[in-house]
Amino acid sequence: MQQILIDCDPGHDDIIAILVALAHQDQIEILGFTTVAGNQTVDKVTNNLLKVLDYLGLRYDVAKGARQPLRRPLEVQPLAHGESGMDGPLLPEAKSHPLAISAVEYLRHKLLNSTNKVTLVALGPLTNIALLLTLHPEVRPKIEKIAIMGGSLDSGNILPRAEFNIYHDPEAAKIVFSSGIRIIMSGLEVCYSGSVTHDRLEIFNNDHKVSRLVYELMDFFSQYSKQRNINSSPIFDMTVIIHLLKPEIFKSKLYYIDVETEGALCRGMTVAEKRESLPFDRLNTEVLLSVDNKEFVDYFIESIQSLDKTSL
Ligand code: RIB
Ligand code: CA
Repeated sequence: MQQILIDCDPGHDDIIAILVALAHQDQIEILGFTTVAGNQTVDKVTNNLLKVLDYLGLRYDVAKGARQPLRRPLEVQPLAHGESGMDGPLLPEAKSHPLAISAVEYLRHKLLNSTNKVTLVALGPLTNIALLLTLHPEVRPKIEKIAIMGGSLDSGNILPRAEFNIYHDPEAAKIVFSSGIRIIMSGLEVCYSGSVTHDRLEIFNNDHKVSRLVYELMDFFSQYSKQRNINSSPIFDMTVIIHLLKPEIFKSKLYYIDVETEGALCRGMTVAEKRESLPFDRLNTEVLLSVDNKEFVDYFIESIQSLDKTSL
């Protein structure tokens, strides 16, 4: 059983990633959630998470985190996620509230009080994780690994060579990648190789609670691709969770990764050292390169459909 703490900025794909994890509680135990500013303000993304958990009748800790990057102004992304950060589904207002403690204090508490090592799952900018490692290095022995949606080997979405989560807080990312803790990076390349064709999403066009939520999330989130005449959409954050559950369908390689924090063109670029003969202990990141698309999409669909059958 893998125990995980999820740091996220919901975010359409954040929510779908969480749903897939919830479908496999025999393999993954979610200890709690923290939220971070990214797709939208931390208030909005926290509210989105609480609305979904309430809608599903689930009770999990939610601790609100950083309102902005370590050193830069907030740059939310309404183009991809809308003004609410989760445009599309019309869910009832959240009745539950975040915890009174901060995300960093919550993560510290959960890690220090856990019997086992815990995997940190980072689905948004790495601000909270960087603050945790900087302010509370005593938690490091309790971290199994950090599984990140972010970065790329040689592509970009927010800039020609930068992915949004890293771009948003490159200083935080630099701290995390240089921490010496094992990192699994689901970058843009593997996320695009797991893109879901829009015709496959029609299977969720029904009245089952979870399927309907996914259908309405993707109806909005897929507009970005549809407006560019692309017939599929990457569900970025879901890649991290499916790798934790089904690593055998992925291809990966170890790299030394550092993060560019300067420059107009390359701010937030994850720079992979590709020159050979690096000492093995310098290879700080397992970079996921690609995934078997059929296995990946079938697993996604089966996971959501299995949730429809539970008491959610
Ligand atoms: O670049 C994709 C990432 O940015 C995903 O985590 C998405 O939710 C947004 O946060
Ligand atoms: Ca995200």
